[in-house]
Amino acid sequence: MKHFVSMKDKSETEIIQLVKRANGISQRGVEPLNGQFFAANLFFEPSTRTKMSFVVAERRLGMEVLDFMTDQSSVTKGESIYDTAKTYESIGANLIVLRHHQENIAKQLAESLSIPVINAGDGTGEHPTQCLLDLVTIYQDFQHFHGLKVVIAGDIKHSRVARSNAIALSTLGCDVYLTGMKEWQDDRLPFPYIAMDDAVEIADVFMLLRIQHERHLDQFSLTECNYLDNYGLTLEREARMQKHAIILHPAPVNRGVEIDSRLVECQRSRIFKQMKNGVAARIAIITSLLNQGGNYNDENFNQCQAIIG
Ligand code: CP
Repeated sequence: MKHFVSMKDKSETEIIQLVKRANGISQRGVEPLNGQFFAANLFFEPSTRTKMSFVVAERRLGMEVLDFMTDQSSVTKGESIYDTAKTYESIGANLIVLRHHQENIAKQLAESLSIPVINAGDGTGEHPTQCLLDLVTIYQDFQHFHGLKVVIAGDIKHSRVARSNAIALSTLGCDVYLTGMKEWQDDRLPFPYIAMDDAVEIADVFMLLRIQHERHLDQFSLTECNYLDNYGLTLEREARMQKHAIILHPAPVNRGVEIDSRLVECQRSRIFKQMKNGVAARIAIITSLLNQGGNYNDENFNQCQAIIG
C-alpha cells in the first residue's frame, strides 16, 4: 500500500489486516517510530475529529506535525494544491494528509508525489480513514463482517462517508442497504433502498449520516419536512431495533435532526467509541504506509508488529 486514498482499490484481505492492526493498537498501544518523520496535515476544509485524531496519532508515533492553515499560507497568494503539496514534499514531509473540497484530488496528488498521500475527505468522493474507524468499531462488537446487515441512512448523495463504507462493507461480505429521502438517493451506489421503518428492524449496524448542508445546491428546510420524524432515528424507531444492533454516526451530529439527542449516548450508540478508534485507525494507516513506502525503519516496524499482534 503506497497511498490511502480510496476503499475501491482495497481487497478484503487488505481491509481485514488494517482493521486487525488498528484493533490491536486500540487495545495495546503502539511504540513511537525510530528516527525523525514529518507529517503534513493539509486541511483545506474544516475538521475537528479527523484533524485532531491525525495529530494525536502522529504524536503518539513521535512524528513532527507540520501544521497548515489556508488563510496563513501561500494559498492566499494563489498557490495551487499541487504546488502546496509539492512544497511540503520538498522540505521533507514524509507523508501528506489531505482534506479538500475537490472530489478525487487525493488520488490525483498521489499519482504526482513520491511520498504517501492519505485522503482525509475529498468533497463528496470518499472518506476512507473514517471508514476504517467505522469498520474497527463494527469488528469490536461482532468480530466478523460476513452476512452482517448494515443500513446506511440519510444524506447518501452528498456523503463521502457513505461511499467509502458502502464499498468496503460490500467487499467484506456485508449486506448493505440504504435509506433516506428520495432527493438524496445516489445512483452511483448499487445497493437497495428500503424504508426507514423496515431498516431499523433488520439492521445489525445502523449507520446514520450527517446532513451535508454545505454541499447542498438547494436550501433545505428541516422543519418543513419534519426530518427527525420522517427520516431520522427517533426513540420509537430505536425501540424496534434488534437487541444486539448498534448505532454509528461519523459526527458532527445534528442532535434532534438525524437522531434524537437522547440516543446519542445510549447503550447501543458507538458514536464516541468511533472517535476513540479514529486514533488507532490512523496509526494503523500511517505505520502501514511508512513501512511499505520504503522510509520506515524495518526494525521498529517489527517492534510495532510484535505489539500490534
Ligand atoms: N467525521 C468527520 O470527518 O468529522 P470532522 O469533519 O470533524 O473531521
